[in-house]
Amino acid sequence: MAEQAWQATVLTLFPGMFPGPLGESLAGKSLKEGIWALKTLDIRQFARDKHRTVDDVPLGGGVGMVLKPDVVAAALDHVADAPGPRIYLTPRGRVLDQPLVRELAAADGAVFLCGRYEGVDQRVIDLAGMMEVSIGDFILSGGEVAALTIMDSVVRLLPGVIGKEASHHEESFETGLLEPSLYTHPRNWNGIEAPEILASGHHGRIAEWRAGEARRETRKRRPDLWERYLRAQAQENEAKE
Ligand code: ADE
Repeated sequence: MAEQAWQATVLTLFPGMFPGPLGESLAGKSLKEGIWALKTLDIRQFARDKHRTVDDVPLGGGVGMVLKPDVVAAALDHVADAPGPRIYLTPRGRVLDQPLVRELAAADGAVFLCGRYEGVDQRVIDLAGMMEVSIGDFILSGGEVAALTIMDSVVRLLPGVIGKEASHHEESFETGLLEPSLYTHPRNWNGIEAPEILASGHHGRIAEWRAGEARRETRKRRPDLWERYLRAQAQENEAKE
């Protein structure tokens, strides 16, 4: 029996933003193949008044508008049967990283609630027990691009999307290190030589060079990741003793 498709369900005021870039390349191909599936739901269809109002002024005053809890609750109720965790995209959430991406890829799907304006009434987020997720410490104009980012990172992990399962193994963040620098032909380009070892044909020495390069570059570019890597290594060694 074929595996069930990973099911993304998106609640948004702008359904036209989907699948957007995920209709192209690997994600688009696997969407057509049924490896994952995408449903979008327009939050505005759950507005109750004749003006189809979805937002209101913030209680206590302040700028912008807030998505109404009754409207968002009705939208969430409508997708009660959709599989996976309920995710509210917000800069206040847990910052996305590869372990969270793997966790989401291991689920049957996810439901994404995309806020616009200033955000969503907190009561509906709390009542539904939603997972709040941020894609980084910057402000987007809404949750849609964040949802697309998460879906992109999840979909490429689904079985059958990237040919060789092995191609994930050496990737950045799977090892805790950044990837080594890449080179292709010609060996001498613009008077700049690619590292000689890469043309040596010695697979063992090439692997060693790449491992060293990954360590050097991680230390230089991302001291925060390097520190975390060293701590993880130390813990691993302790566990072995
Ligand atoms: N909505 C606005 N900014 C966001 C961010 N950085 N991450 C997730 N959702 C957002």
